[in-house]
Amino acid sequence: MNSSKSNHSTQLMTIYETLLNEIDVGVHVINEAGKTIIYNNKMAEIESLTKEEVFDQDFLEVFQFEDGQRSTLLEALFEEKEFKNMKQTYFTKNGKAITTINNTFPIYENDKVIGAIEIAKDVTKIENLIKNNMKLKGDTRFTFDSLIGDSSAMKEVIAVAKRATRTPSSVLIIGETGTGKELFAQSIHNGSEHSSGPFISQNCAAMPDTLIESILFGTKKGAFTGATDQIGLFEQAEGGTLLLDEINSLSPMLQAKLLRAIQEKSIRRIGDTVNRKVNVRIIATINEDPVEAIANNRLRKDLYYRLSVVSLFIPPIRERKEDIQLLVHHFIEKYNRIFQMDVTEISDDVMQLFEQYDWPGNVRELEHVIEAAMNVLVGTSTIETAHLPYHFKNKSTLGMQQKSSIVSVYDPNQEKQVSNSIGNNDKSTPTPVGNLKEYLLNAEKYYIQRTLEKHKYHKTNTAEELGLSRQTLQYRIKRLDIDA
Ligand SMILES: Nc1ncnc2c1ncn2[C@@H]1O[C@H](COP(=O)(O)OP(=O)(O)OP(=O)(O)O)[C@@H](O)[C@H]1O
Ligand SMILES: [Mg+2]
Repeated sequence: MNSSKSNHSTQLMTIYETLLNEIDVGVHVINEAGKTIIYNNKMAEIESLTKEEVFDQDFLEVFQFEDGQRSTLLEALFEEKEFKNMKQTYFTKNGKAITTINNTFPIYENDKVIGAIEIAKDVTKIENLIKNNMKLKGDTRFTFDSLIGDSSAMKEVIAVAKRATRTPSSVLIIGETGTGKELFAQSIHNGSEHSSGPFISQNCAAMPDTLIESILFGTKKGAFTGATDQIGLFEQAEGGTLLLDEINSLSPMLQAKLLRAIQEKSIRRIGDTVNRKVNVRIIATINEDPVEAIANNRLRKDLYYRLSVVSLFIPPIRERKEDIQLLVHHFIEKYNRIFQMDVTEISDDVMQLFEQYDWPGNVRELEHVIEAAMNVLVGTSTIETAHLPYHFKNKSTLGMQQKSSIVSVYDPNQEKQVSNSIGNNDKSTPTPVGNLKEYLLNAEKYYIQRTLEKHKYHKTNTAEELGLSRQTLQYRIKRLDIDA
């Protein structure tokens, strides 16, 4: 009888152990001395530690907490506190930052605390995603004074934008990458009645749909596994401005939800049953022609009508070349201040190249070129062609003149350019360009750059033509250091 009982309890132990190691939440138990006695597989995975590193160790030898932060597990043990869905960030002894949402409680035996249990869900990745993608108040540096541009096109958009500061209407800013959409959005915010409220910006293309939905609207505890009571950006931006970048990358379902929020001036957290009033000015941006976006089902017509009460079209630099000189001097002054330099001029050759160039990355690209040139400038106060960064020389007319037969290998459609170029035209004997790996990387970079230009830097379309996922394209752009 006794032996069958003990058989039964060892079986139960095995079952408990299997259960602990198979479930998808981290479980960490410490005894009354604060030493680890249970640490399941999921916990080891979340914290990137082995069980051996944790078992029977003093808790604070293995985990560190920032000043003012305390361990929920130790508080449960020593102060008999219970925590439900408590978010906690801490560091392992290997320096890895971990963010979890915990249920933590003491374990009693005969009214005496004999240990504490923590059940943890890992949210480190989601936390990082949110942190990297959200800029909170404090980042709103720009006002209309920061906007450089004397062309009639720019003066006109600035005038419309200034008028938009007087009303709380939604604004749609249309412009290619680097044309200054964020700068305009911040200037409108800072010039408006909403300026005392927060300015929050969110790029809609940066995250999967489900995540962006909870980030925008918030969640109610229990809405889905792991959901906590969390306010969304609409509520965080209360009394201020919410900038939604690249709204054309939101799904039609989310675009409809966004439209409803704007129209009804209220939102409902995911999983909630109550509507909450919000007083937020919405500024949305789109980096392609809205008519084309509507035709290709990337933008809902009803949302477009609603947003475009005020629409600002910021022209690309190639359509307002008269602004180049002003911008160049503005950025030279900016980097003179930052680098403690005294650059005063730019050579006529460089200015000519700038005027002939198409500037697909617009003002951002121009700024980077000036910054890069000033980085290599020594003992002279004039920016010359020699100081220009390689990627610019390569893409500008200077590059066209110097390009070798490598062009013909990468892009047969460029016949005309090649035959005009000074380089070697024989396609069968390309100029040596280093080892094969280097050659292929250059080819890849060139081809991606060309395709991006062709699609006016629209990543989804570029990825489609290249037969890559958008994410893979992003990865390659970063790896190959492509300006996009
Ligand atoms: N008119 C301008 N005057 C001065 N600086 C400008 C102007 N337009 C853009 N810039 C500068 O160019 C850079 C890019 O601007 P911004 O981030 O506003 O572009 P964007 O249109 O939001 O680009 P993206 O679509 O890639 O997000 C910033 O550093 C900004 O300061
Ligand atoms: Mg932007």
